[in-house]
Amino acid sequence: MRKEDPISPCFTDVLALLQALSRDWQMKMVPLSGGADTYKGKYRAMARRKLIAGNWKMNGHLDSLRELHGIEKAAKSHPQVDVAICPPATLIAAAVARVPGLAIGAQDCHSADKGAHTGCLSAPMLREAGAHYVIVGHSERRADQGETDEDVRAKAEAAHRHGLTAIVCVGETEEERDAGTAEAVVTAQIAGSVPAGATAEWLIVAYEPVWAIGTGRVPTLDDVLAMHTAIRAKLVESIGDEAEGVRILYGGSMNGSNAAELLAVPNVDGGLVGGASLSTDKFVPIIEAGATLA
Ligand code: 13P
Repeated sequence: MRKEDPISPCFTDVLALLQALSRDWQMKMVPLSGGADTYKGKYRAMARRKLIAGNWKMNGHLDSLRELHGIEKAAKSHPQVDVAICPPATLIAAAVARVPGLAIGAQDCHSADKGAHTGCLSAPMLREAGAHYVIVGHSERRADQGETDEDVRAKAEAAHRHGLTAIVCVGETEEERDAGTAEAVVTAQIAGSVPAGATAEWLIVAYEPVWAIGTGRVPTLDDVLAMHTAIRAKLVESIGDEAEGVRILYGGSMNGSNAAELLAVPNVDGGLVGGASLSTDKFVPIIEAGATLA
């Protein structure tokens, strides 16, 4: 792994070819129900809309919601991409009231619908507050709260039971990447965290290398390509054809300067953005980058 490497010439060539093919497929796109089975996978793949989602983590107060107006405006100006913000749970209802045109999400949910779990929030509570998405299994929760793949899978199932789209996070640590086990670690997380029978309607995956979160370091585009391809293949193994439609987001130090190249990598269907989602000025360029590629 290296810091923000320039795109290698080889990668640029491959990317240009894939983008040209992508445009070609889009022109030939027919409805999914059109019955062209041979091309079904390609059509579904091309039908994936980019999602630019912000994760505010444990940041933000009521006055921070003023940032959402510019984000809502950008989302409305670029209807070809989906945009969401996941503020702290205390702000969900207020955010929904303030910017009804912007999708709001939560950052975690309990796997149970109710019960004696002091301090926790259930999926139905978050849905009632107005959330549409919920992030589950973020590496900060896997590390701080010791969440296992099994916990994450149960949370994703709870999200689905209550009409929330689950954003299941996976990602390797720096030690794991240095040891050459990144792909094995991440695909095992997919196998353990993705519920059987998940569909593209309610499952999104976010690949977030732990060492890239909040550090200003990003994987090379070749590494992103390799990991997203491996995740797609593992999803196919886990949930079959449905995997083609599942969006795989990249997260980890995404910003207005690197978003366009990261979002152009095949199988990168959007971004999960931390620090740069906290302000309109930093988040809107990422939405615009996604829109340009849509
Ligand atoms: P940063 O964009 O701040 O690196 O955070 C990424 C992240 O963890 C989003 O969930």
